[in-house]
Amino acid sequence: MKKRRIAILTSGGDCSGLNAVIRAVTKKAIHEYAYEVVGIKDGFEGLIFKSWRMLGEADVSGILTMGGTILGTTNRANPYKYPIETRTKVSYKDLSSRVLRNLHQLKIDCLVTIGGDGTLDTAHRLACQGVPIVGVPKTVDNDVKGTDITFGFDTAVHVATEGIDRLHTTAESHHRIMILEVMGRRAGWIALYAGLAGGGDIILIPEIPYNVPLLAKHIKDRRRRGKNFTILVVAEGAKPVGGQVTVQRIVKDASAPVRLGGVSFLLGQELERLTGIETRNCVMGHLQRGGSPSPFDRILATQLGSKAVDLIAQGRFGYMVAVKESRLTHVPLAEVAQGSRLVPTDHPLIKDARALGACFGDEK
Ligand code: F6P
Repeated sequence: MKKRRIAILTSGGDCSGLNAVIRAVTKKAIHEYAYEVVGIKDGFEGLIFKSWRMLGEADVSGILTMGGTILGTTNRANPYKYPIETRTKVSYKDLSSRVLRNLHQLKIDCLVTIGGDGTLDTAHRLACQGVPIVGVPKTVDNDVKGTDITFGFDTAVHVATEGIDRLHTTAESHHRIMILEVMGRRAGWIALYAGLAGGGDIILIPEIPYNVPLLAKHIKDRRRRGKNFTILVVAEGAKPVGGQVTVQRIVKDASAPVRLGGVSFLLGQELERLTGIETRNCVMGHLQRGGSPSPFDRILATQLGSKAVDLIAQGRFGYMVAVKESRLTHVPLAEVAQGSRLVPTDHPLIKDARALGACFGDEK
């Protein structure tokens, strides 16, 4: 009898824990169901240009603790809007029919797509065109709809928290304002969690626009109370009331071209001017995405990978594996493709942080 065959790809920005999912899917598919596993290289790029390889147990052995993805990834290969670059301009082409043809040629019974909102949206579109797909959510931002948590987030929070801890001592020694900028384009989960874990005095998230004079007042009040330093944690997507996000660059051939960054620098200049207190900023950036996953992320990634294989065995396609109220479950991809999961402004952690004196840059 012909063996069943599944393919797996990682797409979009990487995060810690991708390899743990690849390992879990491959090992379980081979051990428990005797499937064949094909690893697609560089996300949908590999499906467009037929770049793949068979994965055996030896290929995934020893990768649990490794950051990144052994399959490679890209955020430039949306098959429905594939960038074609000439010397003068970028135009876009729909190459989805090529992907469908190549998948057919690969004779796969299911495609496992590991990615964030963009990838899962593409997965949903392919599923609507008849591709048997199971999605696995990933992102440091923790903003995928349909799941309470994504792997990669916990590791990012650890890294950011360590950053805050390190800034704390130097802020205190020099009596400065220290600003740490963390990832989070639309959702401020990393800033909120790391801010709370690191005892941030001010936490700024995209969901709550901040008032700069009010921040300056908060810092001066602290000084009057004998606190000569301030730790401010800001998500890259945070913006002032009535203002805009800080754009760092435009990646012209990416499906989501805007890259944020630099809000900590601009805010630092403003606060130094308004308070007279020397200010420094630090951008955590991709440090949050690299390196070995935390034990929590290793476990979560393994559970999600394992659950994905179970869904395939049950013939349940068009779903994303997810965690809801601490239970593993699955949700329709259609539900996932509807935007980002933002921090509710009445989130219990915001209330707790406020009760401890943290400022979110608003009047509350
Ligand atoms: O979506 C994940 C993320 O890490 C965002 O937090 C960040 O804004 C973006 O990706 C950075 O993308 P790139 O790796 O292309 O710079």
